[in-house]
Amino acid sequence: MSALVTSLPGYREPAARLAKALDLPFTATDVHRFPDGESKVTVPATPPATVVFCQSLDRPNDKLIELQLACATLRDLGTERILLVAPYLCYMRQDKAFHPGEAVSQRIIGRHLASLVDGLITVDAHLHRIHDLHAAVPLETAINLSAAPRLGEFLAGRVENPLLLGPDAESEQWVAQVAAAGGFDHAVATKERFGDRQVRIHLPDTDFRARTVVLVDDVISSGYTIAEAARAVRAAGAATVHCLVTHPLFAPGAEALLREAGVAEVWSSDAIVHASNAIHLADMLAATLQPLL
Ligand code: R5P
Repeated sequence: MSALVTSLPGYREPAARLAKALDLPFTATDVHRFPDGESKVTVPATPPATVVFCQSLDRPNDKLIELQLACATLRDLGTERILLVAPYLCYMRQDKAFHPGEAVSQRIIGRHLASLVDGLITVDAHLHRIHDLHAAVPLETAINLSAAPRLGEFLAGRVENPLLLGPDAESEQWVAQVAAAGGFDHAVATKERFGDRQVRIHLPDTDFRARTVVLVDDVISSGYTIAEAARAVRAAGAATVHCLVTHPLFAPGAEALLREAGVAEVWSSDAIVHASNAIHLADMLAATLQPLL
């Protein structure tokens, strides 16, 4: 066996789908959490030369330590190359110090991951002020794929003649690609954020009346961005509002917030495991990984 796929608990199903798409075995990395919060990590006992670590990094603080323990142990056991497939790459949004003393987490976590693995593949990383993943993750192999074409294909088979709306300027890169993949109309709103849970959405000059509007974003976290956008388009006459997202982070309360705002369906990719997962990324990830193996 020249390679295998592994993951921490919680991301086993998408990791096993990736293994199947690559025609490689999947062997779990186990974690035992001690009562004091520390973790005991157990990797495959006789790992091959190449290990694909398929691990999304949502709710990352424990996972980052467990990944570090796992990678160091794999090296001790003789693994020469670790390729990290992290469909959600954590800590990318804090890309500058807005106030003196603030940690620039994007740079720090990016360097940390680069010290653990030999290559990294992610999906729709939230890159705002930098545009090249290599600037955040200093590895020769640092690849940022987009789920947008897959989201567009999914929507084409699901909704007739939707109007896509990105809720803020940053979402334009994703909404434009989803629209192009399905041949849909699209528009982009603007957003003012006043705090973690306070946003205001300003709609573009677009006729939303009687349309099926699909809100498209990279991340749903608190849910306020999508909820405010849903309220705005409904007030502007939209018939139905759905939501399509790569990363369903869903902080506590977010799902209820979307329901109250009148969002009918939420569809997400399995970049993060969630009940709304409707689009599997295994084939897309495997196509990029295969030549690296
Ligand atoms: C922001 O730039 C992102 O693209 C998302 O719009 C944002 O992170 C969503 O966050 P929330 O759900 O907390 O409004």
